[in-house]
Amino acid sequence: MLTDAHHRIIDYVRLSVTDRCNLRCTYCMPENMRFVKSDALLTDAEIISLLQTLASAGISKVRITGGEPFMRPGLINLLSAIKAIPGITQLAITTNGVLTRDYIPALQQLGITDINLSLDTLQPARFLQITRRNQFDAVMQTLHSLLAHQMKVKINVVVMEDVNTDELVHFTSLTRDHALSVRFIEEMPFNGQGHTFSGIAWNYRTILDAIRETYPLHKLPDPPHATALLYSIPGHQGNIGVIPAYSRTFCGTCNRLRISATGSIKTCLYGADTINVKDLLRSGAPLLPALQQVLHHRAANGFEAEKQHPRIPESMSVIGG
Ligand code: GTP
Ligand code: 5AD
Ligand code: SF4
Repeated sequence: MLTDAHHRIIDYVRLSVTDRCNLRCTYCMPENMRFVKSDALLTDAEIISLLQTLASAGISKVRITGGEPFMRPGLINLLSAIKAIPGITQLAITTNGVLTRDYIPALQQLGITDINLSLDTLQPARFLQITRRNQFDAVMQTLHSLLAHQMKVKINVVVMEDVNTDELVHFTSLTRDHALSVRFIEEMPFNGQGHTFSGIAWNYRTILDAIRETYPLHKLPDPPHATALLYSIPGHQGNIGVIPAYSRTFCGTCNRLRISATGSIKTCLYGADTINVKDLLRSGAPLLPALQQVLHHRAANGFEAEKQHPRIPESMSVIGG
């Protein structure tokens, strides 16, 4: 069992399989983002070996992130191998939906039904403005196909002042006829351009207040380790949530470990890189004692700890969300 210095059990890994992306979301990366060479990434064999070791130490949930996971060649084969690892009971993906539609039948066949879709606007022109790429139709087709295949869909909406706050109600309306969750995320300082911790205009409370002007919201119970506060709306099939990603209300129950596409371990979204598992795997050094050691230095609240000595935050595409 992997535990940290504060007796938190770590059983959830967020694994980035590539730093590449086919969008250029302004809150995530600059237009001229530079990506690492593919030989710097963990190989499929390394990922599988790593996850086997982690599963033997109690990791049961794996979320595949990027960049955009479907930019990695052969992703479906990799997912199939991960699915077969004993102990991994939950395998989920976070995707931007640009390439995803064609893979939905394969995902379904593998029994991968938890898909988090990043989508910050329901307006084509605004999509281009936010992502700098003209892929709105492709993403919407993915969304409709996911729903038609009865996948468990969560839409992640990053809430940005003066950009998309006028769409909170429109997004919420999607939950009336569709059994999906729409989660509004506070914007974080990870755009790869040196944003610092300057605060945010729209936090989870203001987001909820804005939605309450149109819809009554009823708090749902929090699942263990949840990042989202969930609310139901009478008569709606789906639900909405807010993720206090900047306000950090959920650090106390954090059960996650993050692994970047090049093998760097982060014990907190806001924290610095610690050990590199690719180097450890390639040198044949044992993984678990090294991991346990970094977990023993894990801050109780990584966000507060980081604010004392802020670094230039990287792009979210490198961290994997
Ligand atoms: P599930 O709970 O399995 O649906 O996944 P998730 O909400 O952990 O994953 P998803 O990739 O959809 O991420 C939600 C987003 O919340 C993250 O990508 C971040 O943008 C934001 N977030 C901010 N801080 C954290 C954190 O410490 N953990 C997680 N998971 N998400 C965070
Ligand atoms: N602030 C908040 N959320 C972000 N994401 C990416 N960058 C940021 C940011 N700066 C979200 C994406 C995706 C998830 C993995 O992280 O929209 O849904
Ligand atoms: Fe790509 Fe996601 Fe970053 Fe947008 S937020 S550029 S979709 S990695």
